[in-house]
Amino acid sequence: MHHLVLLFILTYPSLLFGFPSVPFKSSKRWVVDSTGTNFTYIGVNWPGAADVMIPEGLQYASIRSIVSKIKSLKMNVIRLTFAIEMVDDIKDNGGDVTIQQAFSKALGSKGDAVYQQVLKSNPQFNASTTRLQVFDAVAAECANQGIYVHLDNHMSKGAWCCSTNDGNAWFGDTYFNADKWKRGLQYMAEHVSLTDFPLLQTKNWSNMISIGLRNEFRKPEKAGSSQAYNWQIWYSQMVAAADLVNAANPDILIFLSGLDFDTTLSPIPGASDLGGGKKFQRASFKYADKLVLELHNYQNSATSCDSMKSGLWNNGFKALDASAINQMPVVLTEFGYQQTDSSYNGVYASCLRKIVPEWDAGWTIWVLAGSYYIRSGTQDYEETWGLMNHKWTDWRSANAIKGLQEMIDASLG
Ligand SMILES: *[C@@H]1O[C@H](CO)[C@@H](O)[C@H](O)[C@H]1NC(C)=O
Ligand SMILES: *[C@@H]1O[C@H](CO)[C@@H](O)[C@H](O)[C@H]1NC(C)=O
Ligand SMILES: *[C@@H]1O[C@H](CO)[C@@H](O)[C@H](O)[C@H]1NC(C)=O
Repeated sequence: MHHLVLLFILTYPSLLFGFPSVPFKSSKRWVVDSTGTNFTYIGVNWPGAADVMIPEGLQYASIRSIVSKIKSLKMNVIRLTFAIEMVDDIKDNGGDVTIQQAFSKALGSKGDAVYQQVLKSNPQFNASTTRLQVFDAVAAECANQGIYVHLDNHMSKGAWCCSTNDGNAWFGDTYFNADKWKRGLQYMAEHVSLTDFPLLQTKNWSNMISIGLRNEFRKPEKAGSSQAYNWQIWYSQMVAAADLVNAANPDILIFLSGLDFDTTLSPIPGASDLGGGKKFQRASFKYADKLVLELHNYQNSATSCDSMKSGLWNNGFKALDASAINQMPVVLTEFGYQQTDSSYNGVYASCLRKIVPEWDAGWTIWVLAGSYYIRSGTQDYEETWGLMNHKWTDWRSANAIKGLQEMIDASLG
């Protein structure tokens, strides 16, 4: 009898503790959890797609302490970014590399010192720990602390994102092999899937709710190196990838990002012609209740909230509206600003703080980081847009966090 009770608790912890309430689905413009309660994404980006391809910050702080900081704000999700190159290594190059190798490959002679610091801050890791095992550990600690995980394919080749000449801009670009991209998404979707085998559930990501197929498509500078940059190609590639992800893991939501650095999904809400008569029809998908739209906004020098608001609405947020042919949830998965000055009180930040919660739309701010292992060639790069200080020990600015807390409270309320 006692064993049965224990088995029950281990198998269905969410029934007792209300977390995780998975799988999620989308219903009209809402994301709903498995209990039927609406869920608003309120979270932060945790980058793991740069050169080292390991979630950032671990040479300075433990995963547990970083997750505790996120939790202390009452956020409910992280957007965890990864690079397809990690999966390419697993599939084509003899398996995932250890974090020790990853640091020395990306950081050269300084790599070992940083690796040693990672072990000191996170003593559960060792010489055989691989990059993907670090992702697993981040997800597991988020689960421990009641935070959901949204995975985001940020880049093909691990590096700082995004520019029009980084080779990762569009299908067929220097590093953007569309087949490897799909394989990588499929691999990650499978890797995080729930198992039907209750007692082994801890090996999977119990708190995994959604995946973003690709971050910030953009028109590559280099002409001729890629497929045509248009909505028709977008549609065929995104639908093919979404089909594979859904087959690999039917539980998770699939986020579709738009063109021009994910600033526009304008033809989607009204099902406009994407070219050649092709239209996006949410209702035509077998997994229509798994689809979500995502947009980014970095109009940091905006002077009018009204014009930001109408721009965001017309570029895709109007999918929230009951009048949209494709009514669906829309999440602002990136926006952000300097944490070192009064930007948090400027037009841009104040505007988003007001309108996104008013729309009951979800959001994840860029970026958790205090510093990066390496960014664009500079090691231990100081991230002044990071919510945390350089050493990831505390918030960078108490005032900026107060502003953010207002947004969190408005979205929770
Ligand atoms: C939750 O979602 C339902 C639709 O499923 C909607 O009618 C309702 O207004 C939402 N509730 C809140 C509190 O936003
Ligand atoms: C090394 O770390 C990995 C993953 O973090 C873990 O699974 C393994 O048990 C550890 N090995 C030892 C000997 O501690
Ligand atoms: C989930 O965990 C089980 C048990 O360890 C494992 O066999 C399975 O491969 C995992 N699922 C995936 C898709 O990785």
